[in-house]
Amino acid sequence: MRALVVYESMFGNTAAIARAIADGIEASMHADVVEVSAAPATVPADVTMLIVGGPTHAFSMSWPSTRRDAAGRSASVISRDRGIREWLGALPGVTTPTVATTFDTRATSRLTGSAARAASRRLDRLGFPLVASPMSFRVTDFTGPLVDGELDRAHAWGEALAAEIAVRRPTRPVARSTYQRPFQRPYPHPQSRLGEA
Ligand SMILES: Cc1cc2nc3c(=O)[nH]c(=O)nc-3n(C[C@H](O)[C@H](O)[C@H](O)COP(=O)(O)O)c2cc1C
Repeated sequence: MRALVVYESMFGNTAAIARAIADGIEASMHADVVEVSAAPATVPADVTMLIVGGPTHAFSMSWPSTRRDAAGRSASVISRDRGIREWLGALPGVTTPTVATTFDTRATSRLTGSAARAASRRLDRLGFPLVASPMSFRVTDFTGPLVDGELDRAHAWGEALAAEIAVRRPTRPVARSTYQRPFQRPYPHPQSRLGEA
């Protein structure tokens, strides 16, 4: 039983949030953090919870063109060649008892588009039960830094996610053909500490 956090990041802000989420999860289960270029092509069978995050670019997940734009703003960007859009696009439908959720970083308010919401829709189409609503974390400007308190909030969200799946873990793989949408809407459970983005 472990969590896998897959992140994309240009300037390091989403990477820092990914590590903070994983630190929070580690309070109750093992969590691996992987930059999207190094992420596995399929979700390993022992992954109980998949968490996918990236920066919001042009109201959604990044594109090659927006990553080129980012590269023009900094001499060293992390995920120059591959984003979560491409990784999720190549990911096969779920065949393991893995629940999922998503997060993003962004500079603007929650009323605009969100990489996390787009990624969540993709995971839902692939058949992953969604364990929580997409979560957003704020940066002060395109290159950062993060707004004060966001790393603590990410840590707390990771703790809450791990606590959530401890009470709701599916016990068998769900094939797409028989998938019954057990979590029709991303829950919180009645005792959940999970917040909304
Ligand atoms: C090309 C580009 C487009 C962006 N578009 C948006 C946007 O539509 N909405 C938003 O809130 N932030 C936008 N941003 C800000 C990013 O969300 C911000 O750079 C990101 O959260 C920083 O995280 P990172 O350091 O992990 O890349 C954009 C940034 C870039 C470089």
